[in-house]
Amino acid sequence: MIKFENVTKIYPRMSSPAVDDLSFTVPTGEICTIVGPSGCGKTTAMKLVNRLIEPTDGNIYLSDERGETRNVLEMDPIVLRRSIGYVIQQIGLFPHRTILENIGTVPQMLGWGEARIRRRAGELVEMMNMPLEFLDRYPHELSGGQRQRIGVARGVAVDPPVMLMDEPFGAVDPINRNILQNEFLRLQQEIKKTILFVTHDIDEAIKMGDRICILNVGGKLEQFDSPANILAHPANEFVEDFVGADRALKRLNLIRVDEVMDAHPPLLQATQSVEQAVGLMGEQGLRFMYVIDADRTLKGYARLKDLQGQTGWVDEFMEPAATAILLGTNLKDALSEMLVVDYANVCVVDTQNRVRGLVNTEMIHEAVVESSAAADEVGEA
Ligand SMILES: Nc1ncnc2c1ncn2[C@@H]1O[C@H](COP(=O)(O)OP(=O)(O)O)[C@@H](O)[C@H]1O
Ligand SMILES: [Mg+2]
Repeated sequence: MIKFENVTKIYPRMSSPAVDDLSFTVPTGEICTIVGPSGCGKTTAMKLVNRLIEPTDGNIYLSDERGETRNVLEMDPIVLRRSIGYVIQQIGLFPHRTILENIGTVPQMLGWGEARIRRRAGELVEMMNMPLEFLDRYPHELSGGQRQRIGVARGVAVDPPVMLMDEPFGAVDPINRNILQNEFLRLQQEIKKTILFVTHDIDEAIKMGDRICILNVGGKLEQFDSPANILAHPANEFVEDFVGADRALKRLNLIRVDEVMDAHPPLLQATQSVEQAVGLMGEQGLRFMYVIDADRTLKGYARLKDLQGQTGWVDEFMEPAATAILLGTNLKDALSEMLVVDYANVCVVDTQNRVRGLVNTEMIHEAVVESSAAADEVGEA
């Protein structure tokens, strides 16, 4: 848990605070995003946690799962910093050190042996979907997206329970940012860190945060709440403007395909006979069906019109499936993928490309309507 208690920071010779009487709590294992316009005190708030900046007033507490609570102001700053993962704005990899040396920065300070550092770095590089050869390369030999992954890997190297991430995906293009966000959310399901995540992008704040802390210029807290509540019930005009007019659409970010998909869709087996397949499509009233093999791996799809009048096996007449949506994808990303390929129906697969369900545009529409209705009920209660 990270707890801010009436924290204020006034920089020397500044008349107004950068962070103003800030109080909020991030429960263990959650991501709290801090979002707000440029200069509203996001980076300052974050650096107060690992004491790169000292507060003018107030206290910040960290506590572990055993409930042991410590005031960061009473801790040795060096020890404190080594126990908190930090991913800085603009990545900040050391250009003349290899990826291995970059990831190994804190482990080395902690006195880990060479073999252990290499093993851990290798584990992290693989976890971030990059080849082991990268360990011996230099930052300039990697793309922006890859460097950001290394920045995150360095932050989690010693497996700290608490992470501070300052615009960690700020330096990449929107497509790669989306990939990094999704990868990180998947990783977080395994590592369950307590994370303060700074961003200036409200969409990223909604997507990544279990809770969102919205700051205004002068470091004033405007709202601290779950993304769903912030979208449904902005506390004031500032939040309403900041969230934007497309609040209903933004809710798509909060729902995962797993929650709305049909988990038992009718599917064809690649080795099924065409006659059988045509019969099944007639029964189900379908013009096309997805095709899987014996272990549910997605093979393709077959159209009724390509099968009719034929004899043989389904896999002789099917088309390879171009697009499938990964389990855990949010509805906004799912819908945009579906629009790109112009599919009304798409398979949901796991990381091994095994079919876990089917989602269509009606299911997505229904989910949005239901979530607005639910939000309105909460508002009236
Ligand atoms: N070292 C500093 N000395 C004086 N003022 C600072 C210093 N660092 C930041 N500020 C000011 O404090 C405010 C908040 O800055 P910062 O926390 O970096 O905002 P953000 O990360 O939200 O863009 C800004 O007005 C900034 O100019
Ligand atoms: Mg900043």
